[in-house]
Amino acid sequence: MILFTAVILLASGLGLASAEVVKQGSTCTVTPSGTSDDTSQILSAFRQCSTDSSIVFREGTYNIRQVMETTNLRNVSVDILGRWVWSADNLQYWIANTLPVDYAGLYTAWKLGGTDVSIRGHGRAVFDGNGQVWIDENRNGMAYSQNVTMTNLDMNTTSNSQWSAINTDGIDTWNSRDVHIANWRVVSGDDCLSVKGNSTNITFKNVTCYESGCAVIGSMGSNAWQPDYVDNVHYEDIRCIHSSNAAWIKTYPGTGHVRNVTFKNIEFEDVNQPVYITPCTYSGRNCDSSRVAIEDVSWINIRGTSRYNIAAGMYCSASAPCRNLRFENIDIRPKNGGAAKVLCSNIQNQATMGWQCTGTCPGNWPQQLDGNR
Ligand SMILES: *[C@@H]1O[C@H](CO)[C@@H](O)[C@H](O)[C@H]1NC(C)=O
Ligand SMILES: *[C@@H]1O[C@H](CO)[C@@H](O)[C@H](O)[C@H]1NC(C)=O
Ligand SMILES: *[C@@H]1O[C@H](CO)[C@@H](O)[C@H](O)[C@H]1NC(C)=O
Ligand SMILES: *[C@@H]1O[C@H](CO)[C@@H](O)[C@H](O)[C@H]1NC(C)=O
Ligand SMILES: *[C@@H]1O[C@H](CO)[C@@H](O)[C@H](O)[C@H]1NC(C)=O
Ligand SMILES: *[C@@H]1O[C@H](CO)[C@@H](O)[C@H](O)[C@H]1NC(C)=O
Ligand SMILES: *[C@@H]1O[C@H](CO)[C@@H](O)[C@H](O)[C@H]1NC(C)=O
Repeated sequence: MILFTAVILLASGLGLASAEVVKQGSTCTVTPSGTSDDTSQILSAFRQCSTDSSIVFREGTYNIRQVMETTNLRNVSVDILGRWVWSADNLQYWIANTLPVDYAGLYTAWKLGGTDVSIRGHGRAVFDGNGQVWIDENRNGMAYSQNVTMTNLDMNTTSNSQWSAINTDGIDTWNSRDVHIANWRVVSGDDCLSVKGNSTNITFKNVTCYESGCAVIGSMGSNAWQPDYVDNVHYEDIRCIHSSNAAWIKTYPGTGHVRNVTFKNIEFEDVNQPVYITPCTYSGRNCDSSRVAIEDVSWINIRGTSRYNIAAGMYCSASAPCRNLRFENIDIRPKNGGAAKVLCSNIQNQATMGWQCTGTCPGNWPQQLDGNR
């Protein structure tokens, strides 16, 4: 049966070799070519149907061997019924060609952006990164992404050894507003749902993240001379499985703010350090010089197991203490039993924030723990 299906797919792929994108009215319909590279068909569809259009990617496997930049979409609805697979046998190409997004050294293999864009996976679409890609909801510089929704997607960007030094985030938003993500399943080597600088009105609902940083604000503030703002972010119904962190914020010692963020209904299993705040990510230096203000952040219904005996390591900059942090219904238990510590420094409303601190947090407190402390 499986063999039969494979043969049919191959045959129809060959038969349609020159007609993979059909445009009818304002709809582009794409069929996989059956070749080792569908990049040009995908780009052609996004080009022909970039405005006031819809694009349907029919079932089957789409092989992607080249970087894609589809950043000028306007009022486009995209339905993805197939599986997108980024090639694994040309790593040198990916290393040399991933698109810079000009932000803290980030690169991406697919840069997606536009206005009024909706992408629906119907629970069948799979983005298989083979370790070298994350998809990026960004637009660098002049044009911003706005009003983008992406629903029902399955993504696997697990890093393999050659790429372990490279970010393989699930999704990053940067310079974007009104981005809505729902019903995703993400296997990611790095951060799963990452909101970076100048993002406003971003929501995530019903996402399961494996092996990742799960729900994170940052990093941001990487250029001290360029302010970075994150406002109005809502994470709800997020599950984090075997992740490094669960609901957390990391900034460089820069300027800007993180304001009005809610982490609600976050469930997790075996998470290294569930709640983490740092103003000096990666270096652990100049922590107190950060002027990225972190304020009005709520954690509501946060429950699960931590890998070690730490529930939270929260260090805020002495020159911009965290303000109005709020915790409600927190239940974090070390997976091997005992009580979980809550470490806090420079939190202005510590006494009334709704969670009892058990000690102070050092400035260079690591994101990754390697045992009980
Ligand atoms: C958006 O595009 C659709 C076609 O896909 C069209 O029917 C609709 O009128 C467009 N909306 C606006 C506001 O132009
Ligand atoms: C957002 O985009 C969708 C199409 O994806 C459109 O129907 C809706 O009107 C847009 N909303 C706003 C506020 O522009
Ligand atoms: C994700 O991809 C990696 C590498 O290709 C693979 O080993 C792993 O089984 C995949 N995981 C899931 C849950 O699909
Ligand atoms: C949550 O997302 C998953 C896909 O990851 C989907 O199967 C499930 O139906 C969604 N649940 C709700 C309540 O929408
Ligand atoms: C964010 O959403 C709020 C409320 O929904 C709206 O008033 C505001 O204009 C939005 N901001 C941006 C930058 O889109
Ligand atoms: C963020 O937006 C502000 C203006 O609102 C701008 O000055 C700054 O350069 C932007 N930061 C980044 C990292 O793009
Ligand atoms: C805070 O963000 C939420 C969305 O997450 C939004 O509905 C609300 O209006 C924002 N509050 C303020 C004061 O901007």
